[in-house]
Amino acid sequence: MAHGDAVRRSQAWFGAAGRGGMVYRSWMRNQGFGPEVFDGRPVIGIAVSASELAPCNAHLTRVAEAVKRGVWQAGGFPLEFPTMATGETLMRPTAMLYRNLMAMEVEELIRANPLDGVVLLSGCDKTTPAMLMGAASVDLPAVMVTGGPMLNGKFQGRDVGSGTAVWQMEAEVKAGRMTEEECFFAEGCMARSNGHCMTMGTASTMACMAETLGMQLPGSATWPAVDMRRYETGQAAGRRIVDMVDEDLRPSRLLTREAFENAIRTNAAIGGSTNAIIHLTALAGRVGVDLDTEDFDQLARDVPTLLNLMPSGTYLMEDFCYAGGLPAVHHELVRAGLLHGEQLTVTGRSIAENVADAERIGDEVITGVVAPFQPAGTGTAVLRGNLCPDGAVIKQSAASPHLLTHTGTARVFDSPEAYHAVCDDPDLDVDENTVLVIRGAGPKGYPGMPEVSNVPLPTKLLKAGVTDMVRVCDGRMSGTGYGTVVLHVAPEAAVGGPLALVRDGDTITLDVPKRSLQLEVDEAELARRRAAWQAPEPRHASGYAWLYTQHVEGADRGADFDFLRGCRGSAVPRDSH
Ligand code: FES
Ligand code: MG
Repeated sequence: MAHGDAVRRSQAWFGAAGRGGMVYRSWMRNQGFGPEVFDGRPVIGIAVSASELAPCNAHLTRVAEAVKRGVWQAGGFPLEFPTMATGETLMRPTAMLYRNLMAMEVEELIRANPLDGVVLLSGCDKTTPAMLMGAASVDLPAVMVTGGPMLNGKFQGRDVGSGTAVWQMEAEVKAGRMTEEECFFAEGCMARSNGHCMTMGTASTMACMAETLGMQLPGSATWPAVDMRRYETGQAAGRRIVDMVDEDLRPSRLLTREAFENAIRTNAAIGGSTNAIIHLTALAGRVGVDLDTEDFDQLARDVPTLLNLMPSGTYLMEDFCYAGGLPAVHHELVRAGLLHGEQLTVTGRSIAENVADAERIGDEVITGVVAPFQPAGTGTAVLRGNLCPDGAVIKQSAASPHLLTHTGTARVFDSPEAYHAVCDDPDLDVDENTVLVIRGAGPKGYPGMPEVSNVPLPTKLLKAGVTDMVRVCDGRMSGTGYGTVVLHVAPEAAVGGPLALVRDGDTITLDVPKRSLQLEVDEAELARRRAAWQAPEPRHASGYAWLYTQHVEGADRGADFDFLRGCRGSAVPRDSH
C-alpha cells in the first residue's frame, strides 16, 4: 500500500473483489487512468463550484488543476467533481435560498463516492459556508481553497469596491450627481478580473472565516484570484490533503468551540460581514457546537477592528493581501491574547504556530491592537427587546453614529417590493427621523432571507441630502452594504414575530449602546394585535421552496434545515451492485 497501513475508505470500491470491483474500476479506466491508481493511495475529491452562472467562481476549474497537481505530487489520486454553485448576483429570489441545498449536495456527493479526503473550492458568498457545512456533516479530512478576490476596481482614478460602489453609485445617480452613462461604464471597472467581491463583503469574510477555523491554509483567503500564488496555494492544499488523510485530520478536530470563538473575534477584527453570524451558527450546528447569537456580541466586545477595508473603511482585499493578509491580523490577535492560539489547523500545526512569522506591512491597511482602525466594541452588536425576542443584529461600523440611539415613527412595508413601489414618490410621508420597517424578508417569509434590508432611502430625502435612516428588517444585508440597518430580526414576521405586529405611526426606539430595540406599544395592545394576526398565505405549495419553508430554522439558528443539523459521518454506504 502506498500510504500508511490503514485500509482506505476508497478501497471499499476500488479494492473490491468480483463483479463490483470490476465495475468500480473498469469505468474509471475510460478516462485513461492506469491500474496503479487503485493501489490503495488516498483518493481525493476536488469539489469544484465553478459555473458561468456564478461569475465569482468561474475560474475555479483552473484552481482545480493546481490542486490536482499537488495531489499527484504527494502520491494521491485526485478526482474532480462539480457541485452546485450559488452565485449571489444572478440567483432569484436569493442565493441564500439555495445554501442549504448546496450543502446537502456537497455532503451527499462526498459520502456517496469513493473518497478519502476532499478539497473544497468555493468563492461567492454562500458557496463557502455551504461547502463547509456539507463537509462537516460527513467529517472526512477536508481542506478548503477559496477562489480569491477580484483585483481592486478602478474608476476615474480611484479604487471602487464591488458591491459597496453599487450602493454608492445608485445613490449618486438618484441624487443627480452621476449620469447613467458614467454608471454603465463603471460596471466594467468594478469587475476587471476573475474572483469574488474584493470588499470585506460576505465572500471575503467567509474566506477569512474558513482560514480562521483552520479549514484553509494560512494566507489562502487573501491572494487575489489572478495572483499565481493562489495557484501555488491550491497546489500546496492538494499536497497537504494527502497527508491529512494519513493523519486522519478531520473537520471535527478543527471545528471546536474555540475555533468558532476565534472566528467570531477575527470577524470583529476584520470588520467582517453580518452574514458570518448566520453561516457560522449554521456550521456550528453541524458539528454540535452550541453558538448563541449573544456570543457574537460578547466575544467581539473587546476586539478592536484592525482592518481598514470597505464597506467600513477605505481599502480593498488586494491592499489587505499586500499588507500581510489574514496571517498578519491573526498574529496581532494572538499577541494581544485575543485568540485561542493553540487551536489546530489543516497544517497540522496550531494557528499561533502558523502565523508566528507573519508581519504586517505598514499600518494603513492593517493596524495594530494598540492604535486600531476602530476601537473595541464598535463592531456588530446583537440587540434584544420586545421587537426582537430572539435577537437582531446591527453592524455599527457601517452605521451612522448619530442614529445608533434613535427614536422614530414607524413606516411599515410588508415586503421590500411594497417599499420600492413608493420610494420615489415625492409625497411619501417620511422624514429623516422615520424608522422604515421592512418585513416579510425572513427565512420562511421571502423565502430565503435575502439581502434586501438596506433599502435605498426615499428619493425625496436623498435629494434633500439625507444620507442615512434607521431601517429595521427580518432579512439580511449584503456584506458590502452599509447604513443604520437592524437586520435578522427574530422571530421573523412570517411566523408571527413581534415585527408582524408593528403598525404605521408606532414608536420604535433603537439604543445600540444598551443593545436594545423596543416597540413602544403596551403589552395589552400587542396582545390584541397578536390575536388578530393572520399568517400570510404560503407562497409555495410544492417543490424545493416548499421544502425550504417547511424545514428552515430562524435566523438565530443559522437558517439551516432542522433535518440537516449534526454530522452523519462517512461510513461507506451499502453497495450499488
Ligand atoms: Fe459573488 Fe460578491 S457577488 S462574492
Ligand atoms: Mg453578498
